Amino acid sequence: MNTSLNNHLQEASHSVRVTSPSLTGEGCQGGTASLDGERPHVAIVAGGDSSEHDVSLRSAAGILSFMDQSRYDCTIVELSLKGWYAHYGDQLLPIDRNDFSFTADGRKHTFDFAYITIHGTPGEDGILQGYFDLIQMPYSTSGVLVESLTFNKFALNAYLRSIPGCHVSDSVLIRRGLARPSDEELAQCLGLPCFVKPNAGGSSFGVTKVKTLDQLTPAIDKAMLESDEVMVERMMTGTEITCGAYLKGEEVVCFPLTEVALKGVEFFDYEAKYEGKSDEITPARIADATRDRVWALTRHIYRTLGCYGIIRIDYILSGEAGHEDINILEINTTPGMTAASFIPQQVRASGTPISEVLSDIIEGRL
Ligand SMILES: Nc1ncnc2c1ncn2[C@@H]1O[C@H](COP(=O)(O)OP(=O)(O)O)[C@@H](O)[C@H]1O
Ligand SMILES: [Mg+2]
Repeated sequence: MNTSLNNHLQEASHSVRVTSPSLTGEGCQGGTASLDGERPHVAIVAGGDSSEHDVSLRSAAGILSFMDQSRYDCTIVELSLKGWYAHYGDQLLPIDRNDFSFTADGRKHTFDFAYITIHGTPGEDGILQGYFDLIQMPYSTSGVLVESLTFNKFALNAYLRSIPGCHVSDSVLIRRGLARPSDEELAQCLGLPCFVKPNAGGSSFGVTKVKTLDQLTPAIDKAMLESDEVMVERMMTGTEITCGAYLKGEEVVCFPLTEVALKGVEFFDYEAKYEGKSDEITPARIADATRDRVWALTRHIYRTLGCYGIIRIDYILSGEAGHEDINILEINTTPGMTAASFIPQQVRASGTPISEVLSDIIEGRL
């Protein structure tokens, strides 16, 4: 195990104890509702093995507070390479991986549904989906292929390029340990500034906007700390917006769009996302016609890929207002779910109670 991963795990295991009281949602003491055996028992699956471990725990707390607890019993289950644990009152009880159950007070508790809110591996890349398929546990996200495809930014871009109407930026993939183009070749091929990012990652960890040739190698080294593959991408210029969507019965419902307005930062980096260096404006200040085109494209991608649950597609709108090119930045299949995250903002703006959206997702699979 590399040192950096080890550090994350040590921090993560520390955070289990520190953050577990804050995981308590309204009306759901200690992260575990009364398991009365009458209501479906939902595991809110959080944590994971990436830098986004703690962000995921915050999303789990959000989901717990949004869930209709008159309909569902909820237990947060935290996963990491150190172990899988159910948060049961003040205790962390080990999960039996044969059937994703745990034992408390001499009684075995099983689950009826897994609401996956891990950002990054293993919850956003298909690994956990494969496990839940094997033990026949219904879950809240898309299936194995969609999860692994959307989590690999380079592979996703290649796939999307083949769908008429989808615009993605040019990019080059660099693999750890393999020969790579020189800095000069990269700059010639993709222009400067360009973006260097982990091919599998999130929350802008390891992402750099590279302006000069000498910044390329340090940026690639930094991104390699997050992922064995790094993508160097041509910069897209314009307004960054994001669109949430989910499948309600047969219909793909799109939420009002959010626009990202940066405050003193160069791009939507970690500080902008989590430390207030951006304003997130919902609904986005764009023409209705552009909004309608974004919704239509989002629905088209959702259906073409065959997604399930809430996804969020991020775009950059370039060119003349009202006639913008819609460039796809990335697809998030387990988007952030803290009260301040985009999706809860968008659902609030739509007027639909967020508990209803979560219930639709659960009922659609039970
Ligand atoms: N090609 C690009 N052109 C312009 N901005 C970019 C580009 N790639 C990334 N960014 C900026 O970096 C942010 C993070 O990149 P993204 O690919 O979304 O990674 P993450 O999965 O970490 O969120 C984006 O929200 C955007 O602000
Ligand atoms: Mg992003």
